[in-house]
Amino acid sequence: MKNLKDSNILITGGLGFIGFNLVLKLSSKVKSIIIFDNLFSKSSKKNFYLFKKLITQKNIIFFKDNILNIDKFKTKLDPDVIIHLAADLNQMKGEKNLEKIIRNNTIGTLKVLNLASYLKIPLIFASTCKVYSNWINKIPIIEKETRYVWENKILGISEKFPIEKNLAPRGAYGLSKYLSEEICKEYFCKYKIPVIINRLSGIYGKYQWGTKGYGWIWHFAESVKKDKQINVYGTGKQVRDILFVDDLVDLLKKQTLALLNNKFRFEIYNVGGGPQNTVSVLEVINILSKISGKQAKIKFFPERYADLKIYISDIKKVSRDFNWHPKIKPVRGIKVVYNSVL
Ligand SMILES: NC(=O)c1ccc[n+]([C@@H]2O[C@H](COP(=O)([O-])OP(=O)(O)OC[C@H]3O[C@@H](n4cnc5c(N)ncnc54)[C@H](O)[C@@H]3O)[C@@H](O)[C@H]2O)c1
Repeated sequence: MKNLKDSNILITGGLGFIGFNLVLKLSSKVKSIIIFDNLFSKSSKKNFYLFKKLITQKNIIFFKDNILNIDKFKTKLDPDVIIHLAADLNQMKGEKNLEKIIRNNTIGTLKVLNLASYLKIPLIFASTCKVYSNWINKIPIIEKETRYVWENKILGISEKFPIEKNLAPRGAYGLSKYLSEEICKEYFCKYKIPVIINRLSGIYGKYQWGTKGYGWIWHFAESVKKDKQINVYGTGKQVRDILFVDDLVDLLKKQTLALLNNKFRFEIYNVGGGPQNTVSVLEVINILSKISGKQAKIKFFPERYADLKIYISDIKKVSRDFNWHPKIKPVRGIKVVYNSVL
């Protein structure tokens, strides 16, 4: 049986929000971590500064480069598993430049898969619930005081929700990930590269450094703390299941171990807080008001393109396969975020 202690893990996007949390938690448990990140995002720039300050272990190697160039490193890298997180998540910018986001996220994933097939190693791919498209908005909803609820009492969207045949927009970012997933499938079929695809919903936590276009819980917490205006798009009753990053890190550890031991070939999972951890935009603002003792300044704007009224992950499959359950509840997690904002 292989264990983490003898393994080298390559993390693309390893200085981003999820990547940095993973590096902090994983570095003492593995032989080495190879971080590949071009410091493209605001989060990575902030975390790079902390990385130099906080990380003293000698078993972490950092390559500052674009994943589009990862081919050049194939003889220098010796990982046993790749956790592929690098992507451009800014949905507002993505809508303005589809070509750019497809090149970065989709062609980027293709390059990472090329490396995995060259080295004959498995890969975990961070996809998104946005691949389901806003066909999900066709599920009838009822409007309550602070949130929308699904009329037919379904608890969450499972992996079986149809994504191919429905004609509905995903938005540029969702499209870039959907196409990436298709390339993952092709590489699995052609080169037998084991792949786990996690369709993540809202992940939040320390080191996210959110902005208007990304990391809304962090961005709201920062706005409340610094008495800045929060822009709410639509009614604010949109509902999401949210997952605290430490819970995701636990899952990624379990998945890495499973792949090292050839337990999975190709699997897709919906990963989020699930039905037990849902919040609406307005509810998060209320929680932040209670935590801070301040009244948030809110301004309403028209709904965003391809936005989902409700997205809640059905996490039964991932919970069963990895004996994994989110532990951190929204109020506790949001408090951690509020206290982390500088
Ligand atoms: N945070 C969430 O709520 C969420 C939800 C769904 C999916 N995801 C997925 O999880 C992954 C990680 O997200 P995150 O929240 O940590 O975002 P992030 O922006 O903090 O991290 C992404 C990292 O990738 C790096 N990067 C981007 N393009 C690159 C390139 N071409 N070459 C090298 N590095 C590059 C960035 O510099 C950054 O460090 C992404 O793939 C994202 O699509 C995240």
